[in-house]
Amino acid sequence: MNERELILAIETSCDETSAAVIESGTTILSNVVSSQIDSHKRFGGVVPEIASRHHVEQITVIVEEAMHEAGVDFADLAAVAVTEGPGLVGALLIGVNAAKAIAFAHQLPLIGVHHIAGHIYANRLLKELEFPLLALVVSGGHTELIYMENHGEFEVIGETRDDAVGEAYDKVARTLGLPYPGGPHIDRLAVNGEDTLQFPRAWLEPDSFDFSFSGLKSAVINTLHNAKQRGENVQAEDVAASFQASVIDVLVTKTKKAAEEYKVRQVLLAGGVAANKGLRTALEEAFFKEPIDLVIPPLSLCTDNAAMIGAAASIKFKQQTFAGMDLNGQPSLELEND
Ligand code: KG4
Ligand code: ZN
Repeated sequence: MNERELILAIETSCDETSAAVIESGTTILSNVVSSQIDSHKRFGGVVPEIASRHHVEQITVIVEEAMHEAGVDFADLAAVAVTEGPGLVGALLIGVNAAKAIAFAHQLPLIGVHHIAGHIYANRLLKELEFPLLALVVSGGHTELIYMENHGEFEVIGETRDDAVGEAYDKVARTLGLPYPGGPHIDRLAVNGEDTLQFPRAWLEPDSFDFSFSGLKSAVINTLHNAKQRGENVQAEDVAASFQASVIDVLVTKTKKAAEEYKVRQVLLAGGVAANKGLRTALEEAFFKEPIDLVIPPLSLCTDNAAMIGAAASIKFKQQTFAGMDLNGQPSLELEND
């Protein structure tokens, strides 16, 4: 076998078709991402059938591009990795079947990766992970605090009881008439607004690390409706700033409390909402004086990409945890059982 540990990784769980070649779980040789956002924008969200069709059209070209950019051949690879779940089943299947075909044709081991493990391991492309650690995962489908004592060991210590943060961002943005995905638009507006509306913060029970964002989302929508009925004008910038202040207050306070209680060495930020400037700055301020190492990925590694899947796959490669040819897309795959 080749001495270099080169893994070809594929990600197709939602609306990004991506392929990457990763060396030793830490170095990106290529990371090609083809976004379908423009095709879904006019529907105000991801349309599963359209997503699958795009993945089918793109996957071969994207894989070829990733291999070419990395300057490697299939014979150089140690394994092929793919997101097996969670995600849209039709979208997952395109990636899983492409990975299986490559593994079969080139006699390579196949590795199934949990999408959230990928988001967490995006951080390993920046620096080596130090345990125990805490990961704050904030994406379109997930909001979780995950405690890790070692590689590949995930313990969910808190999660959302209703909407994911990204979902709340997208819904509030839609109410404000902003395009999909709304997160980046709210983030941009918030910079020019003030937290004047004092939206609620869902702290839940005092010792809980769980989250809830549906009440906040309703409060924003009600405020906008009431203002409209009274013929009053509310500044979109202030709505964005007030909504974001409530989200960040809860996320950062709970993350800091969990980090102290679990005595972790590192705190990792992960998922699409990790691109949020307000959240990044607030976490940096919260951990500035702490002896805890805060790691925040660059924007390109926050949203969905295959490099993060390759980084997570490297751990499974070392453990020789391979999937069989019966690997399937699993829309509701649990992280703790991965
Ligand atoms: O991780 P991701 O790319 O896809 C999922 O696995 O869900 O996350 C997408 C989510 C969307 O809800 C999008 O609005 C949100 O991340 N997002 C942001 C920002 N950039 C992306 N939310 C807030 N601020 C941002 N700058
Ligand atoms: Zn994601």
